[in-house]
Amino acid sequence: MKLRRFTGQVVLITGSANGIGKVTALRFAEEGAHIACIDIDDKANQDTAEKCHKFDIETLVIHSDVTEADEAGQTVKEVLAKWGRIDTLVCSAGLYEGAPIVEVEFEDWQKIIDINLTGTFLYNKAVVPVMIKQRSGSIVNISSMAGKTSWEASSQYSASKSGVIGLTRSVAMDLAPYGVTANAICPGNTLTDMVKGVAAKVGARYGMTGQEWLDMRANDCPMKRLAQPWEMAGVIAFLASKDSRYLTGQSIEVDGGMVLS
Ligand SMILES: NC(=O)c1ccc[n+]([C@@H]2O[C@H](COP(=O)([O-])OP(=O)(O)OC[C@H]3O[C@@H](n4cnc5c(N)ncnc54)[C@H](O)[C@@H]3O)[C@@H](O)[C@H]2O)c1
Repeated sequence: MKLRRFTGQVVLITGSANGIGKVTALRFAEEGAHIACIDIDDKANQDTAEKCHKFDIETLVIHSDVTEADEAGQTVKEVLAKWGRIDTLVCSAGLYEGAPIVEVEFEDWQKIIDINLTGTFLYNKAVVPVMIKQRSGSIVNISSMAGKTSWEASSQYSASKSGVIGLTRSVAMDLAPYGVTANAICPGNTLTDMVKGVAAKVGARYGMTGQEWLDMRANDCPMKRLAQPWEMAGVIAFLASKDSRYLTGQSIEVDGGMVLS
């Protein structure tokens, strides 16, 4: 039997055009939610919305760069004008770039911090007053196992993702009195375009093809495989559901046991 936990609810997803964000949009749509699709990749974002429509729900497609300070507020206004509420925010917009720290220029650092951490902060900040007023809602931020463990040649990415964990904990404390939850998930290597691009670049650093690097990562994982995006979407949906109302401030490793090992 298919779950229909979010009928008529409103879910705002950043990074909805591709990868984990796209599959998460489809998962919420399948369960009856209206979806605000937020991304800078307009063509792919439109495709997400069109795929969501097959579940007979409504969408809004909004071009918004999460690093632009004023845009999150504008997005929230548009979403409220259409549906009058926001039940769930998923912050999936993100980018991986890495290099040994001696090669990381200030601009490289700033770019990743801006997208992964500041972008998440700006969208959390814009949505929080709405959820406080409603006295209900869920925020799910996408961190990474890189935010919890040590990775070489990843200073800006690891710092941004550890920052998302700290941000989420603090937001959770601010929202707890209102019955609103904020959690993060920390994905392991998940087969999206991002990870395929990363594999090619990082593999080259070690004299491997992208596929060889992915095979090595799968072999390093206790479950001996990489994740599929829908395995992230399922946990995100749980964190937005009625079954998780007493769960807040957590950063859940969805990584096949990688951090444990
Ligand atoms: N794929 C993995 O293995 C993996 C592992 C751990 C964490 N993550 C995290 O999961 C999230 C999603 O990753 P993914 O693999 O689906 O990546 P992806 O590249 O497939 O999707 C990321 C989306 O974010 C959008 N985006 C990038 N910069 C943006 C900006 N400034 N404003 C608005 N949108 C922007 C992109 O256009 C894209 O649609 C990211 O935060 C990533 O760091 C991914």
